[in-house]
Amino acid sequence: MPAPKGPLKHFLQISDFTADEYTYLFGRVKAIKDLFHSYIQYRPLVDRTLAMIFEKASTRTRVSFEAGMYQLGGSVVHLTTGDSQLGRSEPIEDTARVISRMCDIVMIRTFEQTKIERFAAFSRVPVINGLTNEFHPCQILADIYTFIEHRGPIQGKTVAWIGDGNNMANSWLQAAQLLGFTLHISTPKGYELSLKTAEVKTSASLKLFDDPLEACKGAHLVTTDVWTSMGFEAENEARKAAFAHWKVNDAMMAAADKAAIFMHCLPAHRGEEVDASVIDGPQSVVWDEAENRLHVQKALMEYLLLGRVGGR
Ligand code: CP
Ligand code: NVA
Repeated sequence: MPAPKGPLKHFLQISDFTADEYTYLFGRVKAIKDLFHSYIQYRPLVDRTLAMIFEKASTRTRVSFEAGMYQLGGSVVHLTTGDSQLGRSEPIEDTARVISRMCDIVMIRTFEQTKIERFAAFSRVPVINGLTNEFHPCQILADIYTFIEHRGPIQGKTVAWIGDGNNMANSWLQAAQLLGFTLHISTPKGYELSLKTAEVKTSASLKLFDDPLEACKGAHLVTTDVWTSMGFEAENEARKAAFAHWKVNDAMMAAADKAAIFMHCLPAHRGEEVDASVIDGPQSVVWDEAENRLHVQKALMEYLLLGRVGGR
């Protein structure tokens, strides 16, 4: 592809966009989702190609990006470490230069954030973070959109994060600061989130709790994630011991606001980080949350490739 004319924008972490851009984006998500549910074709990305690079496993991210790009009229190339030269030590910078001359937009799921940053630095086209060790911004987009759909604006609300101070927690922290909600975090000792990673100096929007039940008190959204993220499997046994009390249960949901909802980015382990009665219970919105990955990412690709549409 020829280098695009406008300024190049990537989506590598939540802090890459402004609050105003999120307001615009969430408006587009609604419009694009409504078209999808009305069986109305919307194909603004005919002839555009998305390259997806997966260095870790995926179900939701792969299906939502691939189905989303086809629905928008474009096509998709799927690469993994094992079936590309990335697995044979081709430098990420060279891979970026080549793929971005052939494709219009790139989604990468990889290990270190520095790897996706190096790719983006040498890419002629927009790069989207499909999960790194440090961040999972597409999931947070879907989660916030899902909250808005169910409960209205997230500004001024409280989100309780129970469990690992991981890629999801770091992205929630950036979102809380940018969008004006409060984040309650409870992690076991040794698994705290890092203000340095999220590049948040002191966050007025952040409150830390030793006791996960305390963190849930008054929360409008309770959310958690696996105890062991991809890439950390060697720590699995130690984590199972350390996280035993950080399982979202009915008592925690009862301590939350009476209209509280529950989210989990999935895949979930019932009986570990969440009880089945919670994830399969009436407050859980995890299937809407998963579906919304499709709609938010279609809006994201539209924005990164076409800018604001319809004079907004
Ligand atoms: N939530 C999420 O990113 O799921 P996958 O790992 O299946 O893509
Ligand atoms: N924190 C999890 C999220 C999976 C979608 C991981 O990184 O494995």
